Amino acid sequence: MSVFREGLFQGKHVFITGGSSGINLQIAHAFGALGAKVAINGRKPDKLDAAVKGLREQGLRAEGYAADVRDYPALDAALAAAVTALGPLDVLVCGAAGNFPAPAVAMSSNGFKAVMDIDLLGSFNACRAAFEKLKKPGAAVIAISAPQAGHPYMLQAHVCAAKAGVDMLVKSLALEWGGAGVRVNSIWPGPIDDTEGMARLAGDPETKRKVEQAMPLQRFGTKDEVAQLAVFLASDAARYCTGGVYPVDGGMSLVGNALMF
Ligand code: COA
Repeated sequence: MSVFREGLFQGKHVFITGGSSGINLQIAHAFGALGAKVAINGRKPDKLDAAVKGLREQGLRAEGYAADVRDYPALDAALAAAVTALGPLDVLVCGAAGNFPAPAVAMSSNGFKAVMDIDLLGSFNACRAAFEKLKKPGAAVIAISAPQAGHPYMLQAHVCAAKAGVDMLVKSLALEWGGAGVRVNSIWPGPIDDTEGMARLAGDPETKRKVEQAMPLQRFGTKDEVAQLAVFLASDAARYCTGGVYPVDGGMSLVGNALMF
């Protein structure tokens, strides 16, 4: 459900990393439904193809570009190919992320690094590769961060460290890129139904019920509720917003996180 005017992103090119599934795929649908040409990136070609097919079945203009966000040359090439196919870039969504719950003592150095590399280095890589293609008044970057950026969570040392880095990356780029007309903002999705992240963190009904009861809005969110915030932040209605961090979490970040585990 969108409150935004039909055709709001008509002809605009939106590139979304990690766009094959979950919140990021919903973001692709939301921009596409408003007229955007969407380029989705993912590292698994089969999953990516299925997502592109789903977007096209809805009558949306969509292309898929396989690349691991940790691989700068591959991601740079994906962005270049998207610009060749879909035209100048208007919006970048840095959505690729990894997560698994584990106590720090059971996490290998490589496990910590995998999440840091996907979330933080991957966001930097996408921004860095996109900037020359993006820089113009009206352009926007949106990072899909998490409440872990601002609150410590048990079993999430890697994600907390990575997402805190993502938010500082967002603020730093907002400072540097504002003069070029590029706004850079961060979204904190709270517990969102039907996502791999929540299946990993609160997959059992008992944990879910406990979390919902403690939340101000007493329910998990929907992927579309996150997507609509991304649309707003990329739109001209948010033209004075940059360097911001925006929770869409039913108020969960107000009550902290101890309730999760
Ligand atoms: N507990 C502890 N360590 C784990 C783990 C778990 N549940 N899952 C993975 N790891 C470790 C691996 O053992 C490996 O470390 P090692 O080499 O010392 O054994 C390291 O993490 C990398 O694992 P690998 O599977 O090779 O990495 P990958 O790059 O293919 O996958 C992950 C990245 C680990 C983040 C994986 O969970 C993933 O692909 N997630 C993407 C989807 C996702 O998480 N979505 C939700 C986003 S909120």
